[in-house]
Amino acid sequence: MLFNIEEFDIKLDTEFIGRNFIYCDEVESTNELLLNSKDFNQNGTVLLAEHQSKGKGRKDKVWISSSGQNLTFSVLLKGEFKSRKINLINLGTSLAIAQAIENLCQLNVELKWPNDVLIDKKKIAGILLESTSKNNKVNKIVIGIGINVNQPNFPGKFDIPPTSIRKEFHSLVNRERLLSEVLNNLEQNFETAKEQSDKIMNDWRSRCKMIGEKVKIIDDERTKFGIFEDIDDEGFMILRQGDFSEKIHYGDVNVR
Ligand code: BTN
Repeated sequence: MLFNIEEFDIKLDTEFIGRNFIYCDEVESTNELLLNSKDFNQNGTVLLAEHQSKGKGRKDKVWISSSGQNLTFSVLLKGEFKSRKINLINLGTSLAIAQAIENLCQLNVELKWPNDVLIDKKKIAGILLESTSKNNKVNKIVIGIGINVNQPNFPGKFDIPPTSIRKEFHSLVNRERLLSEVLNNLEQNFETAKEQSDKIMNDWRSRCKMIGEKVKIIDDERTKFGIFEDIDDEGFMILRQGDFSEKIHYGDVNVR
């Protein structure tokens, strides 16, 4: 079913996120387009595509999503961003997706560091944050979001088994309502993060079932083992290995 922009717009309750909304039938990647195009410059621009021919996932993986059934979109943030704040944007975004699914479908959503959204240990949404810098300062952030909404099945091999809201909720989900809810929460979370980042951290923590567990972290070069102690006030993972704690900036986490 085609995305109904009017229906989405009626439920959008934001100051800036999604106020400039671009709807495309097919693009290579919404992240790539928003990151590189000079035409889309307004802070808060949202670019949604029904189909991506080269959808990107984290760690150079591809993001495959069947056309017209899910949500694949990117949000443009412009300004000057302190690099240590970027992780907070990751956490605030995964939290916004969780809150939207909980509010609309009353499902239990789990968050996996740094930014996977899961239901019953299966992946329902992924986030890919990309940025550009000028004079050593991040000046543009693109938050790419893929949510599996109404796709009925997922052929192929995956690190984390995928699912969709439809499969878990046993009913078709209104994509327009879901998108507006995600964007409303996103703007609200960014606003809260300015003065009360601890509130975002706590809301995120309460949905993360891995804290306190033995985990295995795979980053580009090494595999590390330890206990996922907590996230710190910048959203990085604290990994406890014996008497030592190490701050983890990046990596895939699995429960051992
Ligand atoms: C992940 O690996 O979990 C991140 C997936 C991010 C996919 C989204 S879909 C919209 C945006 N455009 C892209 O090319 N990727 C992101």
